[in-house]
Amino acid sequence: MKKLLIAIALITTLSPVMAQTPIYADDTKDIEDRVKDALSRMTLEEKTRLCYAQSKFSSPGVPRLGIPELWMSDGPHGVRAEISWNSWAYAGWTNDSITAFPALTCLAATWDLEQSADYGRAVGAEARFRKKDVLLGPGINIYRTPLNGRNFEYMGEDPYLAGTMCVPYIQEIQKNGVAVSVKHYALNNQELWRGHIDVYLSDRALHEIYLPAFKMAVKDGRAWTVMGAYNKFRGQHACHNDILLNKILKNDWGFDGVVVTDWGGAHDTYEAAVFGLDIEMGSYTNGLTTESAFTYDDYYLGKAYLAMARKGEVSDSIVDDKAARILRLIFRTSMDRNKPHGAVATKEHYEIAETIGNEGIVLLKNSPVSKRSMPVLPIEGSKYNSILVVGDNAVRMLNEGGGSSELKVKDMVSPLDGLIDIYGDKIKFARGYSAGRPMYGRADIIPQKEVDSLRAEAVAMAKDADLIIMVGGLNKNHFQDCEGGDRLSYALPFGQDILVEELLSVNPNMVFVNLSGNAVEMPWADKVPAIVQGWYLGSMGGKSIANVLSGKVNPSGKLPFSFQKKLSDNGAHAMGELSYPGDSIKQIYKEDILVGYRWHDTKKIPALFSFGHGLSYTTYSYGKPVLSSKQFDGNNPITVSVAVKNTGEKAGKEIVQLYIGDEKCSVLRPVKELKHYEKISLEPGEEKLVTFDISEDDLKFYDESIGDWKAEKGKFKIYIGASSADIRGTSEFVYN
Ligand code: BGC
Repeated sequence: MKKLLIAIALITTLSPVMAQTPIYADDTKDIEDRVKDALSRMTLEEKTRLCYAQSKFSSPGVPRLGIPELWMSDGPHGVRAEISWNSWAYAGWTNDSITAFPALTCLAATWDLEQSADYGRAVGAEARFRKKDVLLGPGINIYRTPLNGRNFEYMGEDPYLAGTMCVPYIQEIQKNGVAVSVKHYALNNQELWRGHIDVYLSDRALHEIYLPAFKMAVKDGRAWTVMGAYNKFRGQHACHNDILLNKILKNDWGFDGVVVTDWGGAHDTYEAAVFGLDIEMGSYTNGLTTESAFTYDDYYLGKAYLAMARKGEVSDSIVDDKAARILRLIFRTSMDRNKPHGAVATKEHYEIAETIGNEGIVLLKNSPVSKRSMPVLPIEGSKYNSILVVGDNAVRMLNEGGGSSELKVKDMVSPLDGLIDIYGDKIKFARGYSAGRPMYGRADIIPQKEVDSLRAEAVAMAKDADLIIMVGGLNKNHFQDCEGGDRLSYALPFGQDILVEELLSVNPNMVFVNLSGNAVEMPWADKVPAIVQGWYLGSMGGKSIANVLSGKVNPSGKLPFSFQKKLSDNGAHAMGELSYPGDSIKQIYKEDILVGYRWHDTKKIPALFSFGHGLSYTTYSYGKPVLSSKQFDGNNPITVSVAVKNTGEKAGKEIVQLYIGDEKCSVLRPVKELKHYEKISLEPGEEKLVTFDISEDDLKFYDESIGDWKAEKGKFKIYIGASSADIRGTSEFVYN
């Protein structure tokens, strides 16, 4: 009897606890109810404590309630090696090697939404396996100048291409219970003076060029976090910027996620509190001391924010809104019990990395060496006894350096390895030039003696070779394709131009493979018969390059940005120093909406290689574009159909591009703008009909007088192109 009574007593005291999971912890409940419930249980201290870091790459949860912390990692091309708790030094773990995926410039060059989805799925699984809740990417700032040290992390010069291509990447990563952090919002279009440069531009350029990709990431991709940029916009730092964060992102686009600072991007407690920031990471208290000199509570959103909230200087609604966003993020990620476990460096991930490389490499030029011969590419091994590979980039670990996107790879195939795999001992190698090591904070100065002797060796070997494959370009050293600085010159570094000229003078049979995330000057472009844009391709890059050069893969990538002949042909540079790089305090985007091909077209300045350009080992013919109607009332979409045929002998993939031009408008409009594209596969002789639906949105510009998008009645022109400069057919319709 006594035992029974004890048992009953135990059940009555324990059962409420055992039987009732609190709403916030119950993942069968609606996420908004969970957020409300958690908030109702939290103290002011707990709510504000969510808003700043507890280590270099993590922020706390609510330990008392069992709400877990958030772990973040760079991004965007793979999961970065572990960083120490309280310094930028690597933690020295031995189980944090991963797959390096191709840089986002290469992904953009595939123009293929499926590649973007595969990328997201794979890198998301790697992030999950490494127990990350937030992967800091994708980078989708617009490519404005080829000098920007971080363009390789971004998706090119066109807002529609960058926006559409980032969406599947985002969606697939987040299916792993890992949030993306879309960066760097916004206008971080150069690295020079990135921490303070104050960007001024028209509302039109802001809305038409620099924001659409972010808008698509948020509205279509449903990104769970956005990272604020370092720079200022109209006088206010982007990480706490009323227009960018409160008005546009949170109000107009309905973003329900978290704004994270770039590391050290917060500068003021009041502004951080009221102008839209949610989580502060990587701060130095006064911009001078290092983090070891103070505690995390000294962050702008630390004790100073708590004090303001206690005094009522920051409203409860702001405090609750920030905390609610962070709780929502935690429930979506670290507290999601149903998320998968993930995996790293699997066969499938390597295959995905290789395929994205295959699809993104761009064949820029492919001519015969003499009038009677065949184009140099693809390289048929049986035709050659000796192939000389020249160039530091043929053997360099290009996953190293570059700043925060640096990766520690488990496996890596260099271009030289990839070529030896296919051509065996026909391959000889000469470094040709030296590029130093990835040192932060200085440009590389290579002793002239070394430069001369490497060049002389390569030129001597080139005389005896049947073919030269030069693998050059930029690298991830400071002042190259690297965070924290811009390139110092548009020309190729390390004496590569002289090397190319000297190699050509002894052997004109040359392929130049340019590895970079930026356009470079190519003064020898008309003399080198074959030129390939090979990006930074990560773990399997050497394979992808060898696949394309050998013809195992028929190249199908197209440029996501224009290659200018010379730097002054670029709009930002043509408009003088205040336009780029600014006067060190502020800058004005004077080229306005005319970025990239919009500039080339409108100013009639041809590019060396145009936006959307990319050749194939086969040829495609385009039929005349046919419109379902020549009158458009804005409601029933017009369908544009065009037949595209593979007229060569190899199977291939073509990227069909549709641009629209507004023939008469009250404001200046670019000659044409990309509105749709599709990548199709075609067997030899095969023809496919490609169709695109034109909607009213495709005709609109941002009208500053009403602060909204508008289409003006009149004639519009459709351009169907194999690139922005290779238009295969046009048609017109009237919008009324
Ligand atoms: C970069 C971000 C990066 C962060 C964390 C910053 O310096 O600008 O892109 O995610 O560091 O490493």
